[in-house]
Amino acid sequence: MSMIPLCSTVPTSRQIPGGAWGRSWGWTAREDGALFSAWPGVDLTIAVLDSLIQWSCLCENPTGKSPQEMKIVTKLFSSRLQQKMCSTYVVTFFTLGTVLLFTACSDGHDDYDTRSPLSLRELADGRGILIGSAVGTSSIAHDMQYIDTLAAEFSSITPENAMKWSATEPEHGSYTWENADSIVAFATAYNQAIRGHTLVWPNEFAYKDTPDYVSNAPDAETMQRYIDDHIEAVVNRYMDVVDRWDVVNEPLETLGSELDQNVITATLGEGWIVRAFQQVRRLDPSAKLYLNESLAERPGEKHQGLLTLVRRLISAGAPIDGIGLQSHFLFGPPSIDQMVEVMRDWETLGLDVAITELDIPERQPGEEEAQATSYGNVVAACLSVETCREITFWGFTDKYSWLNSFLGPESRPLLFDQNYNPKPAYFAVHAALVGQE
Ligand code: GLA
Repeated sequence: MSMIPLCSTVPTSRQIPGGAWGRSWGWTAREDGALFSAWPGVDLTIAVLDSLIQWSCLCENPTGKSPQEMKIVTKLFSSRLQQKMCSTYVVTFFTLGTVLLFTACSDGHDDYDTRSPLSLRELADGRGILIGSAVGTSSIAHDMQYIDTLAAEFSSITPENAMKWSATEPEHGSYTWENADSIVAFATAYNQAIRGHTLVWPNEFAYKDTPDYVSNAPDAETMQRYIDDHIEAVVNRYMDVVDRWDVVNEPLETLGSELDQNVITATLGEGWIVRAFQQVRRLDPSAKLYLNESLAERPGEKHQGLLTLVRRLISAGAPIDGIGLQSHFLFGPPSIDQMVEVMRDWETLGLDVAITELDIPERQPGEEEAQATSYGNVVAACLSVETCREITFWGFTDKYSWLNSFLGPESRPLLFDQNYNPKPAYFAVHAALVGQE
């Protein structure tokens, strides 16, 4: 039995600046959820330590989590539990004899990698997909728990607002990059991919992203120049770090299935969309280019409307690589079969799909289990379609969600609660990534 050295630090491949999830205490957890320790060749000792530490862990389980959940919780210790486990460890250690102190440390990093409960990003890596979160600038500036969780669990970041037009170019030709830059710096430091969101979002249903000078452009030619200039500036700045762009966001009516007649489309016709895709392809040929749409995740009129639009755009020359299914499930989540059917339609058209803004509000207070099942279903649907290679959540803690103001804080739509405790939704996503039902 090869083990993790007690005296080692976290293996280099696991070192995550800013947060190590208690992995440096000299013990870790096997895939079956049992904790195990670090001493080479002392299996009996290990077994006793194992039971004692598991026991102390279970004693700290006032919320009655299932054994399966506890497997994961072993990785997400509160410092109080960590301290208790450490003291249990030390006491046991002395009763079993100080001879262990002189035992050499073994090199068990490979075993560590295969036996530890894995983070979402590690599991997603194993499945060949990205697991992402939308990120707000202020949370990465001041909230250490946010930083730790984001770094440990997610392999991709979408700037929630910082890369949008109103944030980066509020006046024509006058750029404010600080917030987007700080998110890019974070993602780079933690080896996370970046989804460029979003170059042009003309739909003004609930939020307005195109600045007034665009809507008030004196003529069509000037409006088109504003769009061209904006795309060029943002893509040139971030093309080295962004690997996929939401070139156009929500071209359709939010609650309909026709092209949205916002001021840009009403002025320029849908040709501006084709031109935007062509421009980004020219500037950043290696990036994947997406059209990102809301409420089109299940079969029905909006899905059909989007298929029709995209076919038209492609035949007019738009180099579209994929469709972003936002997946804000405000009206209830679709079934696995519905999502798979939609994804297969896009696959048939030769396009990738990505789940780009997933959140699932509780529709009744206390609906945590139903919410968890829905989250697991989305992951299972994506994993069952070859061309779905990304699941991005619109945030990960209920502490920060746009739905706290849009629907109210009782909607609790995300994977972690306000105090960063993983919810059933987290475990469901984890299990679905592992491949368990
Ligand atoms: C849309 C946008 C996102 C975000 C959400 C609401 O889905 O694509 O950028 O603004 O609305 O927060």
